[in-house]
Amino acid sequence: MRMSVIGCGYLGAVHAAAMASLGHDVIGIDVDEGRVAALAAGSAPFFEPRLEELLRAGIESGRLRFGTRPGDAAGARVHFLAVGTPQLPGGHAADLRFVEAAVDALRPHLRPGDVLAGKSTVPVGTAARLAARVADTGAALVWNPEFLREGWAVHDTLTPDRIVVGAAAGARGERAVDVLREVYRSAVDAGIPFLVTDLATAELVKGAANAFLATKISFINAMAEVADAADADITLLAEALGHDTRIGHRYLGSGIGFGGGCLPKDIRAFAARAEELGRGAAVGFLHEVDAINLRRREHAVRLVVEALDGLVFGRRIAVLGAAFKPFSDDVRDSPALEVAVRLRGLGADVVVTDPAALDNARALHPQLGYEPSRDEALRDADAVVVVTEWDEYRRELSPAHAASLVRGRVVVDGRNCLDAAAWRAAGWTYCGMGRR
Ligand code: UGA
Repeated sequence: MRMSVIGCGYLGAVHAAAMASLGHDVIGIDVDEGRVAALAAGSAPFFEPRLEELLRAGIESGRLRFGTRPGDAAGARVHFLAVGTPQLPGGHAADLRFVEAAVDALRPHLRPGDVLAGKSTVPVGTAARLAARVADTGAALVWNPEFLREGWAVHDTLTPDRIVVGAAAGARGERAVDVLREVYRSAVDAGIPFLVTDLATAELVKGAANAFLATKISFINAMAEVADAADADITLLAEALGHDTRIGHRYLGSGIGFGGGCLPKDIRAFAARAEELGRGAAVGFLHEVDAINLRRREHAVRLVVEALDGLVFGRRIAVLGAAFKPFSDDVRDSPALEVAVRLRGLGADVVVTDPAALDNARALHPQLGYEPSRDEALRDADAVVVVTEWDEYRRELSPAHAASLVRGRVVVDGRNCLDAAAWRAAGWTYCGMGRR
């Protein structure tokens, strides 16, 4: 099927490449010329496992192209909308400027029977408004939220847990749902649930999913605060909790909390929209989820200060990690980088290392010291802080090797990802986040 994907960020670039790999004829469109040139040359503008492989295969097959003009979308049967919805400057709501601009730019190129499929995360009610805006073109609008995780984006796009398509009632909506079922034929045939809803429910599913995941993480981090005060161990608590199949182990990873371009801004936008709808009380807990999450970053900094007996000024601190999570070079609202920035603010000589995110981190916070080599970052450090659980730190760094490089054997495990007993046995003062 011929399709366009408007917006080639983390979501759109992966969606375009994945759709081409399924045999569709895809044009990806973005206003950023540099990004389009990179994608057209088969180079991923960000770190995402397997993306380049798919891009190159798609381009070689002739089924994947990229362009900058909205008119490049003309002739496609389905137009996926995958532009960003960042947090509004000075507010908590989502900034819909890019979504609206993309729809307006596409409008003159829509034909009767075309399907406009929204994938961006939007406040409930947006889809109905956009549907009215394109109604006279004869195109139908559906909402098809995306649940991919960065670092797993290709996998999640090709084998999602579920596909949700929201459509307006009536023949036009039903036909559009059938078109989407055809787009995702291979996944549907493989038994992946294909759920058809109204527009508002589809928009809400996405916001609710991220709100739930954020709540689960903040729940375990709230328990970590209590565990700290009670001299208990949060990792053992989480292990025991997760065996209850109603709870499960996933998203019970305690530490410095969630960040990135999605969960933080999405829970705020979700709460802001619920407040507009007069249901602020129903989501009041999301403010608490946010507050618990932000306290974790502060707590990690406090642990470092305490471990250094309050003497941070001029001390060399190796910060292992900058990305908001492993397998990503994304530093948007990264708790890891925030810990580094705060330590630097206290006068520490901070050296940040990360296998993928150093360039992005440097562009955002040029005031920090950066070192591509993990071992060089560790050399002569007075304290070590692990803030992104890359395998390079979690599995591949032995406490004895680290001890041979540093000046002071103090480690703060901001992700509760190290073997505390092994580090202590090698002579380290080990501090976890809610671990005795
Ligand atoms: C999240 C959702 O997981 C996706 O389903 C969704 O599609 C995406 O947002 C989006 O809205 O686009 P992502 O931001 O890529 O995906 O990251 P996650 O893997 O969910 O991790 C989010 C943050 O939570 C990271 O900072 C991670 O370190 C943290 N986290 C995750 C924990 O602190 N503990 C955990 O147990 C799990």
